[in-house]
Amino acid sequence: MKRRNFLLGLGALTAAGAWWAKPGDRGAPHDAYFRALNAELKRNGPMQPCMVIDLDRLDRNIDRVAGTLRNAGKHYRIVEKSLPSRKLIEYIAQRAGTQRLMSFHQPFTNHDAEYFPGFDILMGKPLPARAAQQFYRQLRGAFDPQRQLQWLIDTPQRLQDYLQLAQGLDTRLQVNIEIDVGLHRGGVADDAVLATMLDTIAAQPKQLAFAGFMGYDAHVGMGVPSILGNARELLDKAMAIYRARVEFARGHRSGLWREGLTLNAGGSPSYRLHADERISSEISVGTALLKPTHYDIATLAEHEPAAFIASPVLKKTGPIRLPGLDDKSRLFSWWDPNQRQTFFIYGGWWRADYASPTGLQFNDLFGHSANQEIVNASPAVGLDVGDQVFLRPQISESVLLEFGDLLVVRGGRIVDRWPVFAQTG
Ligand SMILES: Cc1ncc(COP(=O)(O)O)c(C=O)c1O
Repeated sequence: MKRRNFLLGLGALTAAGAWWAKPGDRGAPHDAYFRALNAELKRNGPMQPCMVIDLDRLDRNIDRVAGTLRNAGKHYRIVEKSLPSRKLIEYIAQRAGTQRLMSFHQPFTNHDAEYFPGFDILMGKPLPARAAQQFYRQLRGAFDPQRQLQWLIDTPQRLQDYLQLAQGLDTRLQVNIEIDVGLHRGGVADDAVLATMLDTIAAQPKQLAFAGFMGYDAHVGMGVPSILGNARELLDKAMAIYRARVEFARGHRSGLWREGLTLNAGGSPSYRLHADERISSEISVGTALLKPTHYDIATLAEHEPAAFIASPVLKKTGPIRLPGLDDKSRLFSWWDPNQRQTFFIYGGWWRADYASPTGLQFNDLFGHSANQEIVNASPAVGLDVGDQVFLRPQISESVLLEFGDLLVVRGGRIVDRWPVFAQTG
């Protein structure tokens, strides 16, 4: 008897536990912001997947970055790969009052040189010397690389490659040395290697000029949200390394040192923390202006998402029905109210997270489609065929290039279309 009671109790507990684990209804319709955007896209949008850039939000993000850096006495350098559209970069440059760009991809660098002939470009990664040679072959217009372009050099070997390139081109290359400030993604990690490289530059004044340092610190600020204190500590450590490289060059190779060298640092996650250090002269920021989901981090808490993928609902088919299970799939929609409605949208499988309406979810059992992605939700989302679903890209670089022209919105209205960069030259 006692045993029977025990088993009954256990059964009841298990059932209660299971019921407790039953998913609640997470669905809610578009809020006022997305309702207005949905209405505008239904009226004037392309009715295909597109990347929407909200200029009102972008403006505020630009002002946050530019204001912080201006108050800190630092220059702002725009990270071109994270904002890969000429009009977008032009807009940001104008509002932020900067003509500094960081470029990462040779065809984009040529594009920048042609369309921004007055800008200063610093490479953000060390390109193979043959890719650099390609840049010179394709160079058009008034841009003067001897004055306006800094190549990023990470090792003595690459410096030799670029020396040969300079000799072949009979030109002088500006060399910015990549230093490892704790990210451990390459770059110079000690003074002995730095000395070798600075000596090579000093010995070849017709071919090479020292332009400064670049120390990227993506590891600062990208951690768990609550570790802002930890981010500060990591930044202090990074800047102690940066300072050591600067002091070595200034103290031991003073012939190469001059005021106005480019001492580049930063990145979106750490830019705010750089306001408190006095070593770098400029900070590179790109992604923070659009705030995709991987940048939902403590240091960017004030920033607003400003880029959304919008895609129209093509089909609305009711409770989830899995192929093969057919009517037996009812179990899933009975159990989970968020599977009581099924939509198929135009395109899909992007590096992106659902943003609106609330409670949209992917169905693992059904699987992905880049053609017509399945989206499950509760009926409470209030979506119909022809409505838009909105996603936030996870990162901005590369995802921004997947949708053709950017759809530029202000005050909830489409005001322009901005072409994105072509991947190849
Ligand atoms: C050298 C360098 N600086 C800065 C950045 C920061 O770019 P973002 O602000 O878009 O994260 C990056 C990003 O990869 C980088 O490689």
